[in-house]
Amino acid sequence: MKRDFIHITDFTQTEILETFEIVREVKQKFRNRDDYKPFKDHTLAMIFEKPSTRTRLSFESGFYRLGGQAIYLGPDDIQIGKREPAKDIARMASRYNDMIMARLFDHQQIIELAEYSTVPVVNGLTDYNHPCQVMADTFTILEKRGHFENLKLVYVGDGNNMVVSWLNFAKRFPMHFVCACPKGYEPDQKTVDEAIKVGISTIEISHNPLTAVKNADIIYADVWASMGQKAEAEKREIDFKPFQVNQNLMDATGKDTYFMHCLPAERGRETTDEVVEADYSIVFDEAENRLHAQNAIMLKLMEYKNIYY
Ligand code: CP
Ligand code: NVA
Repeated sequence: MKRDFIHITDFTQTEILETFEIVREVKQKFRNRDDYKPFKDHTLAMIFEKPSTRTRLSFESGFYRLGGQAIYLGPDDIQIGKREPAKDIARMASRYNDMIMARLFDHQQIIELAEYSTVPVVNGLTDYNHPCQVMADTFTILEKRGHFENLKLVYVGDGNNMVVSWLNFAKRFPMHFVCACPKGYEPDQKTVDEAIKVGISTIEISHNPLTAVKNADIIYADVWASMGQKAEAEKREIDFKPFQVNQNLMDATGKDTYFMHCLPAERGRETTDEVVEADYSIVFDEAENRLHAQNAIMLKLMEYKNIYY
């Protein structure tokens, strides 16, 4: 049976740990430029409804370096659900390609794509979540800290798609996750409730960034207006002002704290140039690990085809 990676929770804790092991090894092979081409003669269809820099570059370079070819389809090429329904695109693309990666607005569309596709589908971000990013981020945390024990991660900003993927990770690994956001910008309540119900992590929603970040091992930021919300940017700039991750907020943790950001970062808005450029900022390690984490996820999904790492 083919598998998909649409949510972090599509993998069990064991499968996530196995995937991290693959990340470690493919990263080393990538850096050594080893002759390792498990995806030789394979193609990956990449469907983008939204803009992207990291996601396109990392999937395209990553798949190529594993011996395959990635094919880019931009917003004008596909128009999922408008020119053609997701279920038709899924069956058509499955006949040409060995895997599909999609970045879409509507989460239901990627669910439909996965349901009708006969090849694995990987979620490259929807309005609801961004699981590849959190796989790269958590691998980066493992590299820096060596373990997830007693991890307090405070996300400061909008309760958006990044937060949903963090909550999903908190369903699989014990952690203390805090979302510090302005009133009215809380994350999806259903996902919050589910994460609380699983019962292995401490989940908090706070409206006070200064107290929320106390003792944080990691402060995580994202843009205040996500793709598709840029028309609200002006209002959001006012609502989110007290939630800027600046040096003052980093100091308020009372300990050594890493700064993480999925990027792109809007310096002067959700964070400052000083924070992004600081020694404690690991944003480019995260960005690099997107490529390795995705290669590992794709290898894990290809086990059904007897392509093993
Ligand atoms: N972090 C991330 O997904 O970046 P892009 O939007 O540039 O792909
Ligand atoms: N929340 C952001 C993440 C970008 C990688 C967005 O959806 O635009």
